[in-house]
Amino acid sequence: MSLELRGITKSFGALVANDSIDLKVETGEIHAILGENGAGKSTLMNIVYGLLKADAGEILVDGQIKNINQPSDALEAGIGMVHQHFMLVPVFSVAENIVLGHEKIKGPGILDLADAKAAIKRVSDEFNFEVDPDAIVENLPVGVQQRVEIIRALIYDAKVLILDEPTAVLTPQETDELLNIMKNLKAKGTSIIFITHKLREVKAAADRITIIRRGKVVGTASPSESQEELASLMVGRPVQLNPDKGAHSIGQTLLSIKNLVIKDSTGRPIVKSVNLEVHAGEVVAIAGVQGNGQSELARAMVNLEPHIEGSITIEGEEIIGESVRQALHHGIAFVPESRELDGLISSFSIAENLILDLHDLPPFAKGVSLFPSVVASEAQKRVTEFDIRIQSVSDPVSSLSGGNKQKVVLARELSRPVRVLVASQPTRGLDVGSIEFVHERILAERDAGRAVMLFSTELDEVLALADRIAVMYRGEILAVVPNTVTREELGLLMAGVVNNKVGDTKSA
Ligand SMILES: Nc1ncnc2c1ncn2[C@@H]1O[C@H](COP(=O)(O)OP(=O)(O)OP(=O)(O)O)[C@@H](O)[C@H]1O
Ligand SMILES: [Mg+2]
Repeated sequence: MSLELRGITKSFGALVANDSIDLKVETGEIHAILGENGAGKSTLMNIVYGLLKADAGEILVDGQIKNINQPSDALEAGIGMVHQHFMLVPVFSVAENIVLGHEKIKGPGILDLADAKAAIKRVSDEFNFEVDPDAIVENLPVGVQQRVEIIRALIYDAKVLILDEPTAVLTPQETDELLNIMKNLKAKGTSIIFITHKLREVKAAADRITIIRRGKVVGTASPSESQEELASLMVGRPVQLNPDKGAHSIGQTLLSIKNLVIKDSTGRPIVKSVNLEVHAGEVVAIAGVQGNGQSELARAMVNLEPHIEGSITIEGEEIIGESVRQALHHGIAFVPESRELDGLISSFSIAENLILDLHDLPPFAKGVSLFPSVVASEAQKRVTEFDIRIQSVSDPVSSLSGGNKQKVVLARELSRPVRVLVASQPTRGLDVGSIEFVHERILAERDAGRAVMLFSTELDEVLALADRIAVMYRGEILAVVPNTVTREELGLLMAGVVNNKVGDTKSA
């Protein structure tokens, strides 16, 4: 089935998010859409899926104009979408979620659990997915949860599948599995619209590429172009994909973690006795397959975890047992993995979110009074410096595109004087131009003598930025290696293999 968009236009107030966009996706092709943060990709897809109404333009399926006013219209026309933020109910089973999806969408098809299980089996067999219909969603790895969303679209017989940044939250292995699934779908004639910021994936999977900049289609490209060419087409200037990392001079120990144990609410240890020192002027990356304790370790650095034992000191000052606010006041910049949960207050304005850390400190306020004009001008300064694409700093932060939300958190955390920077997945969801900028900023922190702790599931990012790499496996640091390690060696360590043996997996 082919999908054609003609003259799609959509404004939010004065901002033209989609400016007369023409796009044609042929039957059985994987069509990638590349574009900077805020270029208008998600807006366009939300229009195609009936979540937003275009101001002008037409959607044609196999040459026929379709009126799509809600998702059920899209599903009926054979268009399915997997959103970046999953829409599954965590405590329900896979099959229950599929039935629930039907009730919400009122589309064709599934009525009860037995139907749902049969449909899941049919789709799983046809496309070689492995998904247990009775599994509870919250117990499934992110990659499998995403497969459930794909199954849900396929059960409604989607012939055009929209994937909006599907790999942003996946591990490298899950990403490879998804790319294979996409190729299987394509082989069966499904057309796929694939949105991603990762050029490696575009080159690996896409048949054609359309590039969108500031709401307009600026060109098409072939996946045979180099990553550098694709990046500059997208951003409109040359982009340095591998940051220049100068020699570093290591100073004193700034951050010291001793015998750190983190338990979950049932008392089970998630992190088992971690010891690590980070010095002034070095980047230590924490690598590992998602779910091996890194997220908890990162959150523990500012006391966001409830059950911590052991010690974390910054130049000898203990932060365990303090409030998050007190921990930050010891001089930690913290970029959380989940910006929606820990990084932003979505009902607050962009300006307020940009100065959240400082709102009780001068020059923004004295005592309890806030000086709005100082807040606004500092916020505007940070917006310009970090190239955050907004209309007004007084708009709610919730109106920003995914990547621009991430930039608000980064701009806030990298704008104040600190001793230690803890950054979790700092470039998740960012476009290549923004990644270049953030990488430069992280290295600048290192060169200015800060201790940097980088949590990242992106091997390329770890290898590009880290001076030393600590690999976490089952709640422990399995090995600390220099940055001369190869991708393959790192991959093996992440799988728990040390010297060709599976590492010490003793349970505490
Ligand atoms: N509901 C809304 N109200 C106001 N502005 C909006 C709204 N939704 C999107 N925008 C604006 O429209 C522009 C395009 O946003 P969109 O989410 O489509 O970008 P994107 O290309 O998907 O970016 P990213 O790569 O960061 O996800 C952005 O400037 C965004 O702030
Ligand atoms: Mg988007």
